[in-house]
Amino acid sequence: MGAIAQSLSKPKAADFSLLQMLKPEILSNPYPFYLRLRENEPVHWDAFLHSWVITSYAESVTVLSKYKASRTPTPEQLEAMGLSVLGPYAEVMLKQMMFMDAPTHTRLRSLCSVAFTPRRVEALKEKIQEIADQLLDRLVDCGEMDLIADFAGPFPAIVTTALLGIPTGDHLQLKVLATNFAELMGNFDHDPDRLHSSIQSLKDLQQYFHSVIITQRIHPQEGLISTLMEAEIQGNRLSDEEIVANVILVLIGGLEETTNLIGNGILTLLRNPNSLAQLRDDPEIVQSAVEELLRFEAPTQHTGRIAPEDVELGGKQIRKGDALTVVLAAANRDPARFDNPEELELTRADNRHLSFGWASHYCFGSPLSRMSGQIAFNTLLKRLPGIALRTTKPIWRENIAMHGLTALQVSFDKPGYSKTEEV
Ligand code: HEM
Repeated sequence: MGAIAQSLSKPKAADFSLLQMLKPEILSNPYPFYLRLRENEPVHWDAFLHSWVITSYAESVTVLSKYKASRTPTPEQLEAMGLSVLGPYAEVMLKQMMFMDAPTHTRLRSLCSVAFTPRRVEALKEKIQEIADQLLDRLVDCGEMDLIADFAGPFPAIVTTALLGIPTGDHLQLKVLATNFAELMGNFDHDPDRLHSSIQSLKDLQQYFHSVIITQRIHPQEGLISTLMEAEIQGNRLSDEEIVANVILVLIGGLEETTNLIGNGILTLLRNPNSLAQLRDDPEIVQSAVEELLRFEAPTQHTGRIAPEDVELGGKQIRKGDALTVVLAAANRDPARFDNPEELELTRADNRHLSFGWASHYCFGSPLSRMSGQIAFNTLLKRLPGIALRTTKPIWRENIAMHGLTALQVSFDKPGYSKTEEV
């Protein structure tokens, strides 16, 4: 090969940047790209992102266990980057447990755990099944729907209103605000127009939940918000600002990530008809099926950390204060950890994927999301016989951290339909 041909075929640094995810073809199927990244350098300095990018399982676990989660930029840093518009976002992040380390994280998480007990989640089980059935009652006769707009969006949004103890009718408004705000989270490329409307949505959410707190102080309401208002450990309580900031986090997990779990999961099942038939024929496997769907098409593709000191990781010298981006979705497909990682195996044993994170920041809402996912998949497969894709190219949201679909058109058999009628 000549020198020119050689230099043309040689991969460029930009080819290994996570910014490649901004390309629609990579966003819709990032896994071949993650494989290239992991095979090239599982701990890779991404000069375009100014961050180490981790794609191997073992190193991801190390980073999630030992590195710092507090990474909110100060107003001065934002100003220096020309991003002072993000000030209100940073102020909320400073009060969210996800972006804190011990002891502030321990205090906040413990106080919130007093309110968000396994018993509270278990008590919602019947209600969650009822919400799924009521939504589908209106759809089963239609023969087709947009799975995201008609089910995967409203279902967890209504569940979240029941969890929080706020009016069910507010779910539509909250969904719009949460989706709009989520565009800021973990995304790398900010359209200035979207940035302003995301910040406005954040302000609207803050205002909404502050007025809920004022109302519930006068008229207490059964639900997570009032329990957070009462939560107390040795005289220590949550401030209103802390409640609002962390309820917004709950909202993102509940409304955005659970929508993505259901949408991504149904798409994956429809692309793997044998697995779909396996789950439909044996709904008892739903627990492990949800774990596998989470591993296979993770709703949260990556998260961030900061190096606490100079340290070696995967043969690379990391400096104190360096940023790290842990690609959970890539670690989930690391062949050093999972057998046949590119295969969907609904009954996979030993499936400790990283889709809910790891260690002290392990997803606070995972019991609720697991239960919501299990009910959603089994109810959809039971009540929508013949479910099939009506599109070969589903459109993915332009958000490289929160991996989900904008729409998913599906068809299914109407009640009373029998295959023999076709003959
Ligand atoms: C399928 C749905 C969900 C996914 C994939 C998901 C994913 C995650 C991940 C990956 C983390 C860890 C982030 C990190 O370590 O940097 C996390 C943390 C968290 N999640 Fe979720 N989540 C989901 C649903 C929920 C729900 C329903 C709630 C609330 C009810 C929730 C609340 C939280 C909170 C509060 C944290 C921060 C925990 C901490 O910092 O200690 N999530 N989630």
